[in-house]
Amino acid sequence: MRRQTASRPDGSSSVSQPRARTVVVLAAGEGKRMKSALPKVLHPLLGRTLVGHVLAATGSLGADRTVVVVGHGADRVEAHLAGIAPAATPVLQAEQNGTGHAVRIALAAVPETAGSVVVINGDVPLLRSETVDQLVAAHEAAGAAATVLAAAVDNPAGLGRIVRDHAGRLERIVEERDATPEQRAIREINAGSYVFDAARLRAALGKLSTDNDQGEEYLTDVFGLLVDAGEPVGVHVADDATETLGCNDRYELAGLRRLLRDRVNERWMRSGVTILDPATTWIDVTVTVERDAVIDQNTQLLGTTTIGAEATVGPDTTLIDTAVGAGATVLRTHAVGAEIGPEASVGPYAYLRPDTRLARKAKVGTFVETKKATIGEGSKIPHLSYVGDATIGEQSNIGAATVFVNYDGVAKHHTTIGSHARTGADNMFVAPVEVGDGAYTAAGSVIIQDVPPGAMAVARGQQRNVDGWVLRKRAGTAAADAARRAGAAGAEAARRPGADDGGAVDRADGTVGPGADDGATE
Ligand code: UD1
Ligand code: CA
Repeated sequence: MRRQTASRPDGSSSVSQPRARTVVVLAAGEGKRMKSALPKVLHPLLGRTLVGHVLAATGSLGADRTVVVVGHGADRVEAHLAGIAPAATPVLQAEQNGTGHAVRIALAAVPETAGSVVVINGDVPLLRSETVDQLVAAHEAAGAAATVLAAAVDNPAGLGRIVRDHAGRLERIVEERDATPEQRAIREINAGSYVFDAARLRAALGKLSTDNDQGEEYLTDVFGLLVDAGEPVGVHVADDATETLGCNDRYELAGLRRLLRDRVNERWMRSGVTILDPATTWIDVTVTVERDAVIDQNTQLLGTTTIGAEATVGPDTTLIDTAVGAGATVLRTHAVGAEIGPEASVGPYAYLRPDTRLARKAKVGTFVETKKATIGEGSKIPHLSYVGDATIGEQSNIGAATVFVNYDGVAKHHTTIGSHARTGADNMFVAPVEVGDGAYTAAGSVIIQDVPPGAMAVARGQQRNVDGWVLRKRAGTAAADAARRAGAAGAEAARRPGADDGGAVDRADGTVGPGADDGATE
């Protein structure tokens, strides 16, 4: 409940009684021209559905009650509403007999409604909450029976026209298909948002006819009826006509998406974010970006994504429900449900899947995929790896081309790598397995047993060099010639007839140990 200040005829102002407010969103229509199995109001637009945007725009009214008229695809629309606006009451309009019919059904479901009734078409997603607030304030300050939001547009095709009398007062609203040629020339249109006094709306709705081109009950006819009854009605003209745009098909929806993209980008740029290429940067309305972040081209920031101060994101990056810490760098990356810590580094060409958590200064490098992986402060997975179901401590380095083998064909298992570990290139960690703090593993190892802290694990085939093999088996090739020039061992043997490849000969001690270089990569 809020109080509002109203002007009295004597010029003084007073705080009026708290005014009841009810919001009615019209969302029962099919939206035929969308040509979609999805009800029109559920089509997504930069982070919300169409109806989700409309509900968000009414949020600041602090309405006592919100009613959403559903019809086409009612089950899906109701399920969606339960998720995004559980306090809203869906009301079924089984047959869509027009916007007036829809409001009549909505009010029948809430018979005790008094005060202001705000009605908004469910398909005008660019409407700002400030504009709705101004519309309601203008209506309530004027004590009007009804107030319509209008806009002056270049192309009014398909929309209802605001017909004013010689004194500029609203006379009626006429649908284009019912309009005279003179009325069609009017460029002031009905934006599809209204405020009514509940009692006078209810009375007028009872008098609506279907005597029009579509044979429907038009909500817009309420205005003519109220004017004829001598009731005060008002027109509130929107400052920004683009807010009043609806969409009938996917081409128009794409137009709205561009407008909203520009609006969102402008807001972030004016609040201190650098967006290098606004035309290719798409930020959902639900995202937040802190100052001095830099967003490079071809970047999408979606869902509940947050970008910290001085982070660099992009180019060519899509972040969904992902948190990027201050000063982090995220380059050519696709991330879903990930947490990227402050000053961490991701990409180029990284894929972070849900429950990836990088601590401060951690690194996930090139062609690396992660999932359910917690990567401690300063730890690095620089190249060509899959890290799934893993915990990595601090300051560890995972060698290039490592796979955390988390799946046994039936269940997923966890791998734990300690802190300050150095694992060799081309390792397989066959989970469940644990590598202790400060441990090393040799390149090419398949680690199936736990590695104690400080140990070097070597788990790979022993190397044999079959001297002279190329000279014998690939004689006459460029490789054989090069080997001979290099003084290859076994050149003598190669000249002996019947020499074999020596394959049966194993080294006597049967052991192998890492040399000075264990193949770990930095
Ligand atoms: C309506 C207005 C028109 C205005 C335009 C602005 C009427 C008669 N005309 O026209 O003056 O310029 O919006 O966008 O109101 N709906 C229902 N039940 C129904 C019919 C519609 O819930 O029986 C819902 C639709 O889902 C939609 C909204 O009401 O969200 C508007 O309906 P739509 O058919 O799109 O009206 P327009 O022809 O655009
Ligand atoms: Ca419409």
